[in-house]
This record gives sequence, C-alpha cells and structure tokens, in this order.
Amino acid sequence: MFIIKTLRASVFGLYGYMNFSKSAFSEHAKNFKPEDMQVQMEGKNCIVTGANSGIGFATAEGLASRGATVYMVCRNKERGEAALTKIHSNTGNKNVYLEVCDISSVNDVKSFTSRFCSKDVPVHVLVNNAGLLEANRVITPEGYELSFATNVLGTYTLTELMLPLLEKAASDARVITVSSGGMYTSPLTTDLQFSGDTFDGVVQYARNKRIQVK
Ligand SMILES: NC(=O)c1ccc[n+]([C@@H]2O[C@H](COP(=O)([O-])OP(=O)(O)OC[C@H]3O[C@@H](n4cnc5c(N)ncnc54)[C@H](OP(=O)(O)O)[C@@H]3O)[C@@H](O)[C@H]2O)c1
Repeated sequence: MFIIKTLRASVFGLYGYMNFSKSAFSEHAKNFKPEDMQVQMEGKNCIVTGANSGIGFATAEGLASRGATVYMVCRNKERGEAALTKIHSNTGNKNVYLEVCDISSVNDVKSFTSRFCSKDVPVHVLVNNAGLLEANRVITPEGYELSFATNVLGTYTLTELMLPLLEKAASDARVITVSSGGMYTSPLTTDLQFSGDTFDGVVQYARNKRIQVK
C-alpha cells in the first residue's frame, strides 16, 4: 500500500510539473489560437458556480468581458455582491447577475434551479467550478460528508436539473466541470463519503475530482 501511494505521488509530481505548473501553462499557451481567445459571447447565457473568487471569478469576468450574460452562483450574498460589483465595473457588462445558492445542499440546489428554470432561457454554458478541499470530516445539515456534497452531489444535482435549459441551447450547450490534476493521486472508490477509513481531506478531494471526470 505504502509503495503504491509513494509511486502514485511521484508519478503525479512529475506529471503535474510537466502539465500543471506555471511554466507548463506558458508552454501549452503557445498552442492557443488567438481567434479562440477573442471569441464574442453576446446572446449566450452562462452559469458559473463559485464565482466570487479564484478561477470562478476569473471565468465569470472573462465571459462578461466577451459580452455573455453571466449568472454568478455564490453561497454567500455579501461576497457574491462584492464580486458582482467588481465585474460590473471591470467589464461594463450589466448583464451579470448574482444567484445565491449553497452547492453542498441538495435542497438549496433544487430551490435555485426551480427559481432559475422559471426564467425559461436557454443555458449555453454551465461551469461547475465551486469546489473545496476540507481537511476534516464535516457533515452537512442534510447528512452528507461536505466535500462529497459540494464537489460531487451538489454539482451532479445542479447539472441534472439544468438539463432542460441546456437542451434549449442544443447543440451549442456546454457543461464544464473544473476537476483537478490532484485526482491522479487516488483511484475511484465506492466509499463516496469516506466512512471506511480515517478521514483524509486530500484523499477525499482527489477521489471527488476523479469522480467528476468519470
Ligand atoms: N487552484 C488550483 O490550483 C486548482 C487546481 C485544480 C482544480 N481546482 C479546482 O478549481 C475550482 C476553483 O478553485 P479555486 O482555486 O478558484 O478555489 P477558491 O478560490 O477557493 O474558489 C472556490 C469557490 O467555490 C466556492 N464554493 C465553495 N463551496 C461552495 C458551495 N458549497 N456553494 C457555492 N460555492 C462554493 C467558494 O465560495 P466561498 O468564497 O464562499 O468559499 C469560492 O467562490 C475548484 O473546483 C477546485 O477544485 C483548483
């Protein structure tokens, strides 16, 4: 077991260095097509979860700067509003909206999607970005392990419930789930909520991210 874990970690370290570091990004970026980077998104409705910080914020801002209508799904109203104001002022695009929803709660996801689906608009892009690495085994009020509830259960539920609006945008619709190279450090398991062994947040994160791409 120890040898397999060490081997996985070493292979991931090497693979990660070659593919996920800043210099690897610069290398890959040489193959980006300039016309792809300048694509305009007017008339496209995009949902980005976890849009108030990090990759989600950059994604929402990038889509807004290209003219898309963007719905920022954030769990905290104040942090969401602060990010929304920033995007309005950085891009000048007023078609950017805040939707408050905690992705780790199936009930909250259900109530957000039922609210949103009443708009009856096509959804061209759903970016499942909200995610977390929780070091401790935290149980949500609905009884699920928090990392699983956020990275897998809530994300899957949101995608499933958005299908009718994604279908309205077919064949243009895209669902992008932001996984992680960290997934390479752990195999798939049926113990979805890490109830079997002593909880390890990094391993649970890797397992969740692995599930996202399967
Ligand atoms: N950064 C990396 O190196 C890296 C590498 C590979 C993959 N990723 C993946 O990229 C995604 C974004 O990561 P990041 O680095 O940008 O992290 P980040 O800055 O911590 O952003 C995570 C975002 O998700 C939100 N979020 C967390 N739990 C949520 C919930 N239950 N409901 C709604 N929103 C929730 C956070 O909101 P709050 O502000 O309210 O917490 C935050 O806006 C994650 O899925 C992560 O696994 C990151």
